[in-house]
Amino acid sequence: MEIFRLVTMLVCLFETTLGGLEQIFDDQGLTSIPLNISGNVTDLSCEKNAINTIRTVDFNDKYPHLSSILLAENVITLIEDGSFKGTKLSRIRLRKNDISVIPDFSEVKSTLTTIDLAVNKITELSVGDLSYLTQLTTLNLLSNRIISVADGCFAGTNLGHVILDKNLLTNIPDFLAVNATLRTLDIQSNELVDVSPGEVSYLGKLENFYLKGNRISLLPDLAKYLPSLTKLMINELPLQCCCGMAWMKELSESFSVEMDTRPCVSPSKWNESTWDEITGEMLRREPCEIDASHWIRCQVTSDIIMASRVKEHVEANSDYLNEQENMSITGAFRVDKCPSAYVVLSAKEYDHRV
Ligand SMILES: *[C@@H]1O[C@H](CO)[C@@H](O)[C@H](O)[C@H]1NC(C)=O
Ligand SMILES: *[C@@H]1O[C@H](CO)[C@@H](O)[C@H](O)[C@H]1NC(C)=O
Ligand SMILES: *[C@@H]1O[C@H](CO)[C@@H](O)[C@H](O)[C@H]1NC(C)=O
Ligand SMILES: *[C@@H]1O[C@H](CO)[C@@H](O)[C@H](O)[C@H]1NC(C)=O
Ligand SMILES: *[C@@H]1O[C@H](CO)[C@@H](O)[C@H](O)[C@H]1NC(C)=O
Repeated sequence: MEIFRLVTMLVCLFETTLGGLEQIFDDQGLTSIPLNISGNVTDLSCEKNAINTIRTVDFNDKYPHLSSILLAENVITLIEDGSFKGTKLSRIRLRKNDISVIPDFSEVKSTLTTIDLAVNKITELSVGDLSYLTQLTTLNLLSNRIISVADGCFAGTNLGHVILDKNLLTNIPDFLAVNATLRTLDIQSNELVDVSPGEVSYLGKLENFYLKGNRISLLPDLAKYLPSLTKLMINELPLQCCCGMAWMKELSESFSVEMDTRPCVSPSKWNESTWDEITGEMLRREPCEIDASHWIRCQVTSDIIMASRVKEHVEANSDYLNEQENMSITGAFRVDKCPSAYVVLSAKEYDHRV
């Protein structure tokens, strides 16, 4: 339902300019931008053609009223630097092309608000790719091949909605520079294995957070770290139902979570239970697994505990832990903003349900 709303919103952003002149050249086998476009055009559509290059001569100093260009489903590989000069381009749709770098939009840096580059071949976002786009509010990069997003690369923009669904990200990009504006972050179907409080706790305006289809097993208390959050999508995660996730049983009515009916991949005793069948008390009593022979029992609060970081520590101290069957650690695992103390349990203790 959320996706649907988001899509609707994006579609609305591409509605034609009120009182403007719309010209449509869709599905005409064009291999370049046509020449017979009215000088008064406000909304231009050349979708489903075979255009492979946008040249500076295609738009520069020809269409002073042009504010929306739709070019989805072409075969564009190149948009020449310095294109779109003399337009007032606000929205551009380049979905389903063959673009591998963020094009140069510097000629329209003070008008461009919405870029749709979904289903292209972009592999990275570098500092400077977007930072001159001071009006940019919406960036759609669904289904690219993004493996890296440089720290600070959103600085200077006004981004409120960022869609990174279906890429190859292993961590949440740095959105600090847009934390006053970012309201929707869609990072579904990437390669995330965890979300640390430090990666998200500065996102004070984030309302919609979509994490579906990653490899995350434990989530920090997002309701606490993200004060504006109202919608969380966490379906298709290999969730571990343990004390670290107990915060999800304490959410307010206004907070909506979209998750699988049977969300617990582990412990296996609960893998066929519905989320409703598992109470907060059951979660609080269940230690979180670090690896096949160590668990952590949450104390003090139900805060998590970046399991991967604890795991590193356990590995580094494995001899010690093996000797000390029952190692009580208070403070050693204070990770990021997490104030909790933990007890690391060995397999034997876990079996005995300490
Ligand atoms: C533009 O020219 C093409 C042929 O080059 C023609 O098929 C098309 O109808 C023309 N469109 C307009 C809006 O004049
Ligand atoms: C553009 O708009 C002007 C003023 O509204 C009008 O006079 C002119 O005929 C229009 N040109 C075209 C090509 O539609
Ligand atoms: C943005 O992050 C900074 C640094 O963490 C923080 O001081 C500020 O309150 C944050 N702004 C919002 C709106 O969350
Ligand atoms: C639940 O776990 C048991 C034991 O590990 C396994 O046999 C079963 O296939 C699992 N069920 C699901 C739905 O994954
Ligand atoms: C293990 O820790 C518990 C409390 O956390 C304590 O009661 C128990 O005596 C300890 N066992 C050993 C063998 O130190």
